[in-house]
Amino acid sequence: MSKTNKIIEHSANLTENKSGPARPVRVWDLPTRVFHWALVVMIAIAWISAEADGSAFVIHVYSGTMLVGFIMFRLVWGIIGSRHALFTDFVFSWTTVKDYSLRLLSFRPPHSVGHNPLGGWMVVGLLAVIMLAILTGMMSSEDGYRGPLSHLAFGGMDDIHEGLANFLGLLIFIHVVGVFAHGVLTRENLPRAMITGIKKLPAGIVANDIRSVGIIRPIIAVLIGFGAIWLFWS
Ligand code: HEM
Ligand code: HEM
Repeated sequence: MSKTNKIIEHSANLTENKSGPARPVRVWDLPTRVFHWALVVMIAIAWISAEADGSAFVIHVYSGTMLVGFIMFRLVWGIIGSRHALFTDFVFSWTTVKDYSLRLLSFRPPHSVGHNPLGGWMVVGLLAVIMLAILTGMMSSEDGYRGPLSHLAFGGMDDIHEGLANFLGLLIFIHVVGVFAHGVLTRENLPRAMITGIKKLPAGIVANDIRSVGIIRPIIAVLIGFGAIWLFWS
């Protein structure tokens, strides 16, 4: 079996590197797009406010607490969201990731309708490190502030939290470089797709618009996100 067929067999999500006039395909639903850009803004606020002194430090704590809700929302949306938002759609096996990486080395990666196999694991990594940063932040204390999980803290908590935040910064850097590198290789504008929801894919590629999952599922995911924020808001 050729490498290409193997990749296609592993995932309906990956396609051959076909050319032809580009055709618009709706791939990202509104909740996923709002989540992404709200996450970017909130992480930036948490990052900048981490250095704040005195009462301004509450901005750091509140933005971190908001992030709990964002992550809870995304975990639920990864189970009940539309097709390409589902974890089962973008968490690929090691074999698929390896095949994809080998084709990337030849600078001719196949088009992916949703997240590509490497990007999918980057999403998992980003979400996991954000979760750990939140958890250790809640276990940290600073001047008069005691995190809601500070009773679980062990030695060097603040340093671990700061280290995780720095590691997150590195992952974000790789993520953004990866997004633009992928764009150069496939001539797809991925950031624009994350804004409009629409990817322009070569006409020869088999890809369908995502189907709406209705209004109840987003409401459930948003309510669970708000519930998590409410739990830790103080
Ligand atoms: C704080 C900084 C950032 C974080 C934490 C972050 C995190 C993420 C996460 C978690 C996803 C997965 C989306 C989902 O399925 O829910 C994602 C996807 C994506 N992000 Fe970011 N992101 C950041 C900054 C950026 C920036 C600055 C850009 C654009 C210049 C960008 C472009 C994208 C694109 C295009 C995708 C979709 C990739 C694909 O097509 O597979 N991100 N990002
Ligand atoms: C992804 C989310 C987060 C990021 C990126 C982040 C980032 C940072 C960074 C970079 C520092 C070090 C500041 C410095 O001393 O130079 C810091 C400190 C701190 N953060 Fe966070 N943080 C996040 C979430 C949280 C959350 C959710 C909480 C609590 C609810 C929190 C509580 C604290 C506390 C108490 C400190 C001071 C620790 C010390 O004494 O140095 N953080 N954070």
